[in-house]
Amino acid sequence: VTTSTCLLSAIGLGASSIAFAQTPIVIKFSHVVASDTPKGKAAQRFKEIAEKATKGRVKVELYPNSTLYRDKEELEALQLGAVQMLAPSLAKFGPLGIKEFEVFDLPYIFQNREVLHRVTQGSVGASLLAKLEQKGITGLGFWDNGFKVMSSNVPMRGPSDLKGKRLRIQSSKVLDAQMRSLGAIPHAMAFSEVYQALQAGVVDGTENPPSNLYTQKMHEVQKHVTITNHGYLGYAVIVNKKFWYGLPSDIRAELNKAMQSATQYANTIAQIENDNALDAVKKSGKTMIYVPTEKERAEWVRVLLPVQQSMEARIGKELIQSVHKEAQ
Ligand code: LMR
Repeated sequence: VTTSTCLLSAIGLGASSIAFAQTPIVIKFSHVVASDTPKGKAAQRFKEIAEKATKGRVKVELYPNSTLYRDKEELEALQLGAVQMLAPSLAKFGPLGIKEFEVFDLPYIFQNREVLHRVTQGSVGASLLAKLEQKGITGLGFWDNGFKVMSSNVPMRGPSDLKGKRLRIQSSKVLDAQMRSLGAIPHAMAFSEVYQALQAGVVDGTENPPSNLYTQKMHEVQKHVTITNHGYLGYAVIVNKKFWYGLPSDIRAELNKAMQSATQYANTIAQIENDNALDAVKKSGKTMIYVPTEKERAEWVRVLLPVQQSMEARIGKELIQSVHKEAQ
């Protein structure tokens, strides 16, 4: 054995043990919205805190804007372990077989964010997240987005203006029922396809919080927005259960802490992000923004509120009542 081979194998050994020591645990975090949204920013915040707290032992890779997967595929990818973390909208859990999350889609179920937070941060929220375990998923928390506006190419003074219109919805049976109660035709469609579908006239309109409307440039292809605030859109941050419980416990503890901070951050910025987005839509001059009068608002409520009762059988009367209790 020559000195040089000794040296080479020593370098080789050294290099591989360094490589081993430095191989980080990778968390692929896929989502469908832009980076400059409440979810996009909170994901970035989680990445920063998690990587710093674990001193590089964990690397969080963010894949925004459906670059990796679209709505339905991302949930399948999480269950298969192709990605480790997601934050799908609460309206997208029905196809997984968990209908109860659609309680968040019920029109006018939350009067304001305070009531919403009592639900997401209390026992109702915890028991909803626990339901994910049977699907190989662990729920880490709820991130806010905001209350939804209606958009289309016609002025919307009241529900009757959407009669016969094709409206894009997320894959939720409650949202389907909601649009039908307006006399509209709901089309469930992946978020990544909405802009093009609106532009091509495949659908006439949609609903979303202003932040999603603006960051996907939907306002460029929608002439009218009415501030209905008729329903809520928010997220559950979820991980592959096997991956999560397979992590070293000290790492999991740090990640849990990072998630708590990111959650607090998300829920602090969500309203501001949506207010700013609405301002930006106004400034663009491309879309007329209409605020309903008290009388008009009462008409939206009259038409949409019965969906709460008609969806009882799907979601569970008790669950709906437990949300109402938080409002008292
Ligand atoms: C939608 O599909 O409209 C939203 O769920 C997108 C999102 O993640 O906010």
